[in-house]
Amino acid sequence: MGPGLHPHTLPSPPKTHKLNRDQLFHPKGNLHFFKSQFLTRLPYPSGSYAGKTIIVTGSNTGLGLEAARHFVRLGCSRMILAVRNTSKGALAKSSIEKSTKCSPDTISVWELDQCSYSSVQSFASRASTELDRVDILLLNAGVCPLTGPWKYYEQDEECITVNVVSTFLLAFLVYPKLRATARLFPDSSPTVTVVTSLAHTYTDFYLSRPSPPNQIFASLSSRNRPEATLDDHADQYFISKLLQIFLVRAWAERCPVAKTGVTINCVQPGFVKSGLFKFDGSLMVAVAGVMQWVLARGTEGGSRCLVNAAGWGMGEGKGGKGENSHGKYLSDCRVEEPSELVTGEEGKVLQERIWEELRGKLEGWWRGW
Ligand SMILES: NC(=O)c1ccc[n+]([C@@H]2O[C@H](COP(=O)([O-])OP(=O)(O)OC[C@H]3O[C@@H](n4cnc5c(N)ncnc54)[C@H](OP(=O)(O)O)[C@@H]3O)[C@@H](O)[C@H]2O)c1
Repeated sequence: MGPGLHPHTLPSPPKTHKLNRDQLFHPKGNLHFFKSQFLTRLPYPSGSYAGKTIIVTGSNTGLGLEAARHFVRLGCSRMILAVRNTSKGALAKSSIEKSTKCSPDTISVWELDQCSYSSVQSFASRASTELDRVDILLLNAGVCPLTGPWKYYEQDEECITVNVVSTFLLAFLVYPKLRATARLFPDSSPTVTVVTSLAHTYTDFYLSRPSPPNQIFASLSSRNRPEATLDDHADQYFISKLLQIFLVRAWAERCPVAKTGVTINCVQPGFVKSGLFKFDGSLMVAVAGVMQWVLARGTEGGSRCLVNAAGWGMGEGKGGKGENSHGKYLSDCRVEEPSELVTGEEGKVLQERIWEELRGKLEGWWRGW
Protein backbone atom coordinates (compact mmCIF):
# COMPACT_ATOMS: atom_id res chain seq x y z
CA MET A 1 0.00 0.00 0.00
CA GLY A 2 1.31 3.44 -0.84
CA PRO A 3 2.05 6.04 1.87
CA GLY A 4 -1.08 7.54 3.37
CA LEU A 5 -3.39 5.03 1.72
CA HIS A 6 -5.90 3.67 4.13
CA PRO A 7 -8.08 0.65 3.34
CA HIS A 8 -11.28 2.66 3.63
CA THR A 9 -10.16 5.84 1.94
CA LEU A 10 -8.72 4.39 -1.22
CA PRO A 11 -9.22 6.63 -4.22
CA SER A 12 -12.24 5.39 -6.11
CA PRO A 13 -12.61 6.49 -9.70
CA PRO A 14 -15.87 8.34 -10.29
CA LYS A 15 -17.41 5.55 -12.30
CA THR A 16 -20.96 4.33 -12.25
CA HIS A 17 -21.92 0.97 -10.87
CA LYS A 18 -23.25 0.08 -14.29
CA LEU A 19 -21.74 -2.49 -16.60
CA ASN A 20 -18.48 -0.85 -17.63
CA ARG A 21 -18.93 -0.78 -21.37
CA ASP A 22 -15.63 1.05 -21.95
CA GLN A 23 -13.85 -1.85 -20.37
CA LEU A 24 -16.07 -4.47 -21.95
CA PHE A 25 -15.52 -3.10 -25.45
CA HIS A 26 -11.93 -2.00 -24.98
CA PRO A 27 -10.06 -3.02 -28.15
CA LYS A 28 -7.49 -4.99 -26.20
CA GLY A 29 -10.22 -6.80 -24.32
CA ASN A 30 -12.07 -7.55 -27.54
CA LEU A 31 -9.04 -8.94 -29.24
CA HIS A 32 -8.25 -11.10 -26.28
CA PHE A 33 -11.83 -12.33 -26.06
CA PHE A 34 -12.21 -13.13 -29.76
CA LYS A 35 -8.81 -14.80 -29.95
CA SER A 36 -9.76 -16.93 -26.99
CA GLN A 37 -13.22 -17.81 -28.30
CA PHE A 38 -12.39 -18.51 -31.94
CA LEU A 39 -8.68 -19.12 -32.41
CA THR A 40 -7.55 -20.99 -29.32
CA ARG A 41 -7.50 -24.78 -29.47
CA LEU A 42 -8.12 -26.19 -26.03
CA PRO A 43 -6.35 -29.52 -25.40
CA TYR A 44 -8.66 -32.53 -25.17
CA PRO A 45 -8.24 -33.91 -21.62
CA SER A 46 -6.05 -36.98 -21.41
CA GLY A 47 -4.14 -38.96 -18.81
CA SER A 48 -5.45 -41.25 -16.14
CA TYR A 49 -7.53 -40.50 -13.06
CA ALA A 50 -7.54 -44.12 -11.92
CA GLY A 51 -7.81 -44.34 -8.14
CA LYS A 52 -8.98 -40.73 -7.82
CA THR A 53 -12.11 -39.53 -6.05
CA ILE A 54 -13.58 -36.37 -7.53
CA ILE A 55 -16.39 -34.06 -6.45
CA VAL A 56 -17.97 -31.72 -9.03
CA THR A 57 -20.61 -29.26 -7.85
CA GLY A 58 -23.41 -28.21 -10.19
CA SER A 59 -22.72 -31.28 -12.32
CA ASN A 60 -26.22 -32.16 -13.50
CA THR A 61 -25.81 -29.86 -16.52
CA GLY A 62 -23.54 -27.44 -18.38
CA LEU A 63 -19.82 -27.23 -17.69
CA GLY A 64 -19.98 -29.34 -14.54
CA LEU A 65 -21.65 -32.24 -16.34
CA GLU A 66 -19.13 -32.22 -19.19
CA ALA A 67 -16.17 -31.95 -16.80
CA ALA A 68 -17.51 -34.91 -14.79
CA ARG A 69 -17.93 -36.86 -18.03
CA HIS A 70 -14.26 -36.28 -18.91
CA PHE A 71 -13.04 -37.42 -15.49
CA VAL A 72 -15.16 -40.59 -15.65
CA ARG A 73 -14.00 -41.29 -19.22
CA LEU A 74 -10.43 -40.95 -17.94
CA GLY A 75 -11.01 -43.65 -15.35
CA CYS A 76 -11.62 -41.91 -12.01
CA SER A 77 -12.62 -44.43 -9.36
CA ARG A 78 -15.35 -42.34 -7.73
CA MET A 79 -17.29 -39.39 -9.06
CA ILE A 80 -19.62 -37.49 -6.75
CA LEU A 81 -22.15 -35.41 -8.65
CA ALA A 82 -23.08 -32.67 -6.15
CA VAL A 83 -26.46 -31.34 -7.28
CA ARG A 84 -29.39 -29.51 -5.79
CA ASN A 85 -31.92 -31.62 -7.66
CA THR A 86 -31.17 -35.34 -7.33
CA SER A 87 -33.62 -36.33 -10.11
CA LYS A 88 -31.64 -34.16 -12.51
CA GLY A 89 -28.49 -35.66 -10.99
CA ALA A 90 -29.76 -39.18 -11.73
CA LEU A 91 -30.31 -38.22 -15.38
CA ALA A 92 -26.76 -36.83 -15.53
CA LYS A 93 -25.41 -40.05 -13.99
CA SER A 94 -27.11 -42.22 -16.59
CA SER A 95 -26.00 -39.91 -19.41
CA ILE A 96 -22.35 -40.24 -18.28
CA GLU A 97 -22.69 -44.01 -17.76
CA LYS A 98 -24.11 -44.38 -21.25
CA SER A 99 -21.39 -42.35 -22.96
CA THR A 100 -18.42 -43.72 -20.97
CA LYS A 101 -19.61 -47.28 -20.22
CA CYS A 102 -18.22 -46.88 -16.70
CA SER A 103 -19.16 -49.30 -13.96
CA PRO A 104 -22.46 -48.42 -12.23
CA ASP A 105 -20.77 -47.89 -8.86
CA THR A 106 -18.41 -45.17 -10.16
CA ILE A 107 -20.90 -42.29 -9.98
CA SER A 108 -22.90 -41.21 -6.94
CA VAL A 109 -25.43 -38.40 -6.83
CA TRP A 110 -25.38 -36.39 -3.60
CA GLU A 111 -27.63 -33.49 -2.71
CA LEU A 112 -26.12 -30.04 -2.29
CA ASP A 113 -28.05 -26.77 -2.23
CA GLN A 114 -25.75 -23.78 -1.98
CA CYS A 115 -28.68 -21.54 -1.05
CA SER A 116 -28.52 -23.20 2.38
CA TYR A 117 -25.50 -23.32 4.70
CA SER A 118 -26.91 -26.37 6.48
CA SER A 119 -27.12 -28.24 3.15
CA VAL A 120 -23.49 -27.31 2.50
CA GLN A 121 -22.53 -28.50 5.96
CA SER A 122 -24.39 -31.82 5.56
CA PHE A 123 -22.74 -32.44 2.22
CA ALA A 124 -19.29 -31.69 3.65
CA SER A 125 -19.73 -33.96 6.65
CA ARG A 126 -20.94 -36.74 4.36
CA ALA A 127 -17.81 -36.28 2.22
CA SER A 128 -15.62 -36.35 5.31
CA THR A 129 -17.13 -39.53 6.70
CA GLU A 130 -18.05 -41.57 3.61
CA LEU A 131 -15.11 -40.91 1.30
CA ASP A 132 -11.65 -42.45 1.78
CA ARG A 133 -10.04 -39.63 -0.14
CA VAL A 134 -10.83 -36.51 -2.15
CA ASP A 135 -8.41 -35.78 -4.98
CA ILE A 136 -10.34 -33.03 -6.73
CA LEU A 137 -12.96 -30.64 -5.44
CA LEU A 138 -14.27 -28.78 -8.48
CA LEU A 139 -16.43 -25.88 -7.29
CA ASN A 140 -18.47 -25.13 -10.37
CA ALA A 141 -22.06 -24.53 -9.18
CA GLY A 142 -23.14 -20.98 -9.84
CA VAL A 143 -26.01 -18.68 -10.74
CA CYS A 144 -26.34 -15.57 -12.87
CA PRO A 145 -29.80 -14.06 -12.36
CA LEU A 146 -30.48 -11.43 -15.02
CA THR A 147 -33.99 -10.25 -14.24
CA GLY A 148 -36.50 -9.91 -11.42
CA PRO A 149 -36.02 -8.55 -7.91
CA TRP A 150 -33.00 -9.49 -5.80
CA LYS A 151 -33.51 -12.85 -4.06
CA TYR A 152 -31.97 -13.53 -0.66
CA TYR A 153 -30.65 -16.77 0.82
CA GLU A 154 -28.97 -16.96 4.22
CA GLN A 155 -27.45 -13.49 4.82
CA ASP A 156 -26.92 -12.34 1.25
CA GLU A 157 -28.28 -11.87 -2.23
CA GLU A 158 -28.47 -15.15 -4.19
CA CYS A 159 -25.41 -14.57 -6.39
CA ILE A 160 -23.24 -13.80 -3.37
CA THR A 161 -24.57 -16.69 -1.26
CA VAL A 162 -24.34 -19.34 -4.00
CA ASN A 163 -21.27 -18.22 -5.96
CA VAL A 164 -19.18 -16.94 -3.07
CA VAL A 165 -20.12 -17.70 0.54
CA SER A 166 -21.41 -21.26 0.12
CA THR A 167 -18.73 -22.09 -2.42
CA PHE A 168 -16.00 -21.21 0.08
CA LEU A 169 -17.85 -22.67 3.07
CA LEU A 170 -17.93 -25.99 1.21
CA ALA A 171 -14.29 -25.62 0.19
CA PHE A 172 -13.15 -24.90 3.75
CA LEU A 173 -15.18 -27.77 5.23
CA VAL A 174 -13.93 -30.37 2.74
CA TYR A 175 -10.35 -29.04 2.69
CA PRO A 176 -9.15 -31.16 5.67
CA LYS A 177 -10.10 -34.25 3.64
CA LEU A 178 -7.91 -33.09 0.77
CA ARG A 179 -5.05 -32.47 3.19
CA ALA A 180 -5.51 -35.95 4.63
CA THR A 181 -5.51 -37.33 1.06
CA ALA A 182 -2.18 -35.60 0.43
CA ARG A 183 -0.73 -37.14 3.62
CA LEU A 184 -2.09 -40.67 3.16
CA PHE A 185 -1.58 -41.03 -0.59
CA PRO A 186 1.80 -39.56 -1.51
CA ASP A 187 1.15 -40.01 -5.25
CA SER A 188 -1.94 -37.81 -5.10
CA SER A 189 -1.99 -34.10 -5.95
CA PRO A 190 -5.22 -32.93 -4.33
CA THR A 191 -6.65 -29.79 -5.88
CA VAL A 192 -9.46 -27.36 -5.16
CA THR A 193 -10.57 -25.48 -8.27
CA VAL A 194 -13.08 -22.62 -8.25
CA VAL A 195 -14.84 -21.81 -11.53
CA THR A 196 -14.69 -18.06 -11.95
CA SER A 197 -15.13 -15.91 -15.05
CA LEU A 198 -13.49 -13.40 -17.37
CA ALA A 199 -16.51 -11.32 -16.38
CA HIS A 200 -14.65 -10.38 -13.18
CA THR A 201 -12.88 -7.78 -15.36
CA TYR A 202 -16.18 -6.10 -16.31
CA THR A 203 -16.84 -4.53 -12.91
CA ASP A 204 -15.11 -1.59 -11.25
CA PHE A 205 -16.56 -2.72 -7.89
CA TYR A 206 -17.17 0.96 -7.27
CA LEU A 207 -20.09 0.74 -4.89
CA SER A 208 -18.42 -1.67 -2.51
CA ARG A 209 -14.83 -0.52 -2.48
CA PRO A 210 -15.34 2.58 -0.33
CA SER A 211 -17.63 0.81 2.13
CA PRO A 212 -16.78 1.10 5.85
CA PRO A 213 -14.98 -1.71 7.72
CA ASN A 214 -16.67 -5.08 7.54
CA GLN A 215 -19.40 -3.82 5.21
CA ILE A 216 -18.45 -5.11 1.75
CA PHE A 217 -20.86 -8.04 1.80
CA ALA A 218 -23.53 -5.94 3.51
CA SER A 219 -23.21 -3.21 0.89
CA LEU A 220 -23.52 -5.75 -1.92
CA SER A 221 -26.74 -7.15 -0.57
CA SER A 222 -28.21 -3.77 0.37
CA ARG A 223 -28.21 -2.77 -3.28
CA ASN A 224 -31.65 -4.34 -3.37
CA ARG A 225 -34.09 -2.75 -5.75
CA PRO A 226 -37.41 -4.36 -6.65
CA GLU A 227 -36.91 -3.03 -10.18
CA ALA A 228 -33.26 -4.18 -10.45
CA THR A 229 -32.05 -3.69 -14.01
CA LEU A 230 -30.05 -6.03 -16.20
CA ASP A 231 -26.99 -3.89 -15.40
CA ASP A 232 -27.57 -4.31 -11.65
CA HIS A 233 -27.87 -8.07 -11.97
CA ALA A 234 -24.91 -8.38 -14.32
CA ASP A 235 -22.68 -6.27 -12.07
CA GLN A 236 -23.59 -8.40 -9.06
CA TYR A 237 -22.60 -11.54 -10.99
CA PHE A 238 -19.34 -9.93 -12.13
CA ILE A 239 -18.55 -8.95 -8.53
CA SER A 240 -19.28 -12.48 -7.30
CA LYS A 241 -16.68 -13.77 -9.76
CA LEU A 242 -14.20 -11.07 -8.69
CA LEU A 243 -14.66 -12.02 -5.03
CA GLN A 244 -13.94 -15.66 -5.89
CA ILE A 245 -10.55 -14.68 -7.32
CA PHE A 246 -9.66 -12.54 -4.31
CA LEU A 247 -10.58 -15.39 -1.98
CA VAL A 248 -8.63 -18.03 -3.90
CA ARG A 249 -5.55 -15.82 -3.74
CA ALA A 250 -5.98 -15.03 -0.04
CA TRP A 251 -6.54 -18.67 0.84
CA ALA A 252 -3.63 -19.92 -1.28
CA GLU A 253 -1.26 -17.43 0.39
CA ARG A 254 -2.24 -18.75 3.81
CA CYS A 255 -2.01 -22.43 2.85
CA PRO A 256 1.09 -23.05 0.71
CA VAL A 257 1.31 -26.37 -1.12
CA ALA A 258 4.67 -27.09 0.53
CA LYS A 259 2.91 -27.19 3.89
CA THR A 260 -0.44 -28.70 2.94
CA GLY A 261 0.08 -30.73 -0.23
CA VAL A 262 -3.11 -29.19 -1.65
CA THR A 263 -3.27 -26.92 -4.69
CA ILE A 264 -5.91 -24.18 -4.77
CA ASN A 265 -6.59 -22.42 -8.07
CA CYS A 266 -9.35 -20.85 -10.15
CA VAL A 267 -10.32 -21.08 -13.79
CA GLN A 268 -12.31 -19.09 -16.30
CA PRO A 269 -13.84 -21.27 -19.03
CA GLY A 270 -14.53 -18.57 -21.65
CA PHE A 271 -18.01 -17.69 -22.89
CA VAL A 272 -19.91 -20.98 -23.01
CA LYS A 273 -23.33 -22.11 -24.26
CA SER A 274 -25.12 -23.33 -21.15
CA GLY A 275 -28.20 -22.83 -19.05
CA LEU A 276 -26.54 -20.09 -16.97
CA PHE A 277 -28.63 -17.28 -18.43
CA LYS A 278 -32.29 -17.91 -17.74
CA PHE A 279 -34.27 -16.29 -20.54
CA ASP A 280 -37.54 -14.67 -19.58
CA GLY A 281 -38.71 -13.20 -22.88
CA SER A 282 -37.35 -9.68 -22.22
CA LEU A 283 -35.54 -7.91 -25.06
CA MET A 284 -32.21 -7.48 -23.25
CA VAL A 285 -32.08 -11.11 -22.20
CA ALA A 286 -33.01 -12.16 -25.74
CA VAL A 287 -30.08 -10.05 -27.02
CA ALA A 288 -27.79 -11.79 -24.51
CA GLY A 289 -29.14 -15.10 -25.86
CA VAL A 290 -28.28 -14.19 -29.45
CA MET A 291 -24.78 -13.09 -28.33
CA GLN A 292 -24.34 -16.41 -26.59
CA TRP A 293 -25.50 -18.31 -29.66
CA VAL A 294 -23.06 -16.44 -31.92
CA LEU A 295 -20.02 -16.08 -29.68
CA ALA A 296 -20.00 -18.86 -27.12
CA ARG A 297 -18.09 -22.13 -27.26
CA GLY A 298 -19.77 -25.47 -26.57
CA THR A 299 -20.01 -26.83 -23.03
CA GLU A 300 -17.65 -29.70 -23.80
CA GLY A 301 -15.06 -27.22 -25.09
CA GLY A 302 -15.42 -25.01 -22.02
CA SER A 303 -15.26 -28.01 -19.70
CA ARG A 304 -11.74 -28.77 -20.96
CA CYS A 305 -10.59 -25.66 -19.08
CA LEU A 306 -12.12 -27.02 -15.86
CA VAL A 307 -10.52 -30.44 -16.25
CA ASN A 308 -7.20 -28.82 -17.10
CA ALA A 309 -7.26 -26.63 -13.98
CA ALA A 310 -8.45 -29.31 -11.57
CA GLY A 311 -6.11 -31.91 -13.07
CA TRP A 312 -3.15 -29.53 -13.30
CA GLY A 313 -1.14 -31.27 -10.60
CA MET A 314 -1.98 -34.63 -12.18
CA GLY A 315 -0.31 -33.77 -15.44
CA GLU A 316 -2.98 -31.75 -17.28
CA GLY A 317 -1.14 -28.44 -16.86
CA LYS A 318 0.92 -26.88 -19.60
CA GLY A 319 4.17 -27.85 -17.98
CA GLY A 320 2.80 -31.11 -16.66
CA LYS A 321 3.22 -32.29 -13.10
CA GLY A 322 5.21 -29.89 -10.99
CA GLU A 323 4.33 -26.58 -12.61
CA ASN A 324 2.68 -24.48 -9.98
CA SER A 325 -0.89 -23.26 -10.37
CA HIS A 326 -1.41 -22.56 -6.67
CA GLY A 327 -3.34 -19.33 -6.13
CA LYS A 328 -3.36 -18.77 -9.88
CA TYR A 329 -6.03 -17.77 -12.37
CA LEU A 330 -6.19 -20.13 -15.35
CA SER A 331 -7.61 -19.21 -18.72
CA ASP A 332 -7.47 -21.18 -21.99
CA CYS A 333 -5.59 -23.90 -20.10
CA ARG A 334 -2.71 -21.71 -19.01
CA VAL A 335 -1.86 -19.35 -16.18
CA GLU A 336 -2.93 -15.75 -16.86
CA GLU A 337 -3.14 -12.57 -14.83
CA PRO A 338 -6.56 -11.59 -13.52
CA SER A 339 -7.68 -7.93 -13.74
CA GLU A 340 -5.48 -5.07 -12.59
CA LEU A 341 -7.91 -4.41 -9.77
CA VAL A 342 -6.92 -7.82 -8.37
CA THR A 343 -3.18 -7.59 -8.96
CA GLY A 344 -2.63 -3.90 -8.09
CA GLU A 345 -1.98 -2.21 -4.74
CA GLU A 346 -5.66 -1.67 -4.08
CA GLY A 347 -6.30 -5.35 -4.74
CA LYS A 348 -4.01 -6.35 -1.87
CA VAL A 349 -6.10 -4.31 0.54
CA LEU A 350 -9.40 -5.53 -0.85
CA GLN A 351 -8.22 -9.13 -0.77
CA GLU A 352 -7.53 -8.96 2.97
CA ARG A 353 -10.77 -7.13 3.72
CA ILE A 354 -12.82 -9.68 1.78
CA TRP A 355 -11.03 -12.62 3.39
CA GLU A 356 -11.59 -11.26 6.90
CA GLU A 357 -15.23 -10.44 6.18
CA LEU A 358 -15.86 -13.94 4.86
CA ARG A 359 -14.26 -15.46 7.95
CA GLY A 360 -16.56 -13.35 10.09
CA LYS A 361 -19.62 -14.41 8.13
CA LEU A 362 -18.76 -18.06 8.48
CA GLU A 363 -18.37 -17.94 12.25
CA GLY A 364 -20.57 -20.66 13.66
CA TRP A 365 -20.28 -22.69 10.44
CA TRP A 366 -16.53 -22.99 10.13
CA ARG A 367 -13.95 -22.67 12.89
CA GLY A 368 -10.77 -22.53 10.83
CA TRP A 369 -8.32 -25.38 10.60
N1 LIG B 1 -21.51 -20.24 -19.31
C1 LIG B 1 -20.55 -19.33 -19.32
O1 LIG B 1 -20.36 -18.59 -20.30
C2 LIG B 1 -19.66 -19.16 -18.11
C3 LIG B 1 -18.57 -18.30 -18.24
C4 LIG B 1 -17.73 -18.13 -17.14
C5 LIG B 1 -17.97 -18.83 -15.96
N2 LIG B 1 -19.04 -19.65 -15.89
C6 LIG B 1 -19.26 -20.34 -14.61
O2 LIG B 1 -19.32 -21.73 -14.85
C7 LIG B 1 -20.08 -22.36 -13.81
C8 LIG B 1 -21.07 -23.33 -14.41
O3 LIG B 1 -21.99 -22.60 -15.17
P1 LIG B 1 -22.69 -23.15 -16.51
O4 LIG B 1 -22.37 -22.15 -17.55
O5 LIG B 1 -22.37 -24.56 -16.74
O6 LIG B 1 -24.22 -22.91 -16.12
P2 LIG B 1 -25.42 -23.95 -15.83
O7 LIG B 1 -25.58 -24.83 -16.99
O8 LIG B 1 -26.57 -23.09 -15.40
O9 LIG B 1 -24.88 -24.77 -14.58
C9 LIG B 1 -24.90 -24.24 -13.29
C10 LIG B 1 -24.96 -25.37 -12.29
O10 LIG B 1 -24.97 -24.81 -10.97
C11 LIG B 1 -26.05 -25.40 -10.26
N3 LIG B 1 -26.58 -24.56 -9.21
C12 LIG B 1 -27.20 -23.37 -9.31
N4 LIG B 1 -27.61 -22.95 -8.11
C13 LIG B 1 -27.25 -23.90 -7.22
C14 LIG B 1 -27.42 -24.06 -5.83
N5 LIG B 1 -28.08 -23.17 -5.09
N6 LIG B 1 -26.92 -25.16 -5.23
C15 LIG B 1 -26.27 -26.10 -5.96
N7 LIG B 1 -26.12 -26.02 -7.29
C16 LIG B 1 -26.60 -24.93 -7.92
C17 LIG B 1 -27.11 -25.63 -11.32
O11 LIG B 1 -28.11 -26.53 -10.85
P3 LIG B 1 -29.60 -26.50 -11.48
O12 LIG B 1 -29.52 -27.18 -12.81
O13 LIG B 1 -30.40 -27.25 -10.47
O14 LIG B 1 -30.00 -25.06 -11.60
C18 LIG B 1 -26.24 -26.20 -12.43
O15 LIG B 1 -25.96 -27.54 -12.17
C19 LIG B 1 -20.71 -21.21 -13.02
O16 LIG B 1 -19.98 -21.01 -11.83
C20 LIG B 1 -20.57 -20.03 -13.93
O17 LIG B 1 -20.51 -18.81 -13.23
C21 LIG B 1 -19.88 -19.85 -16.93
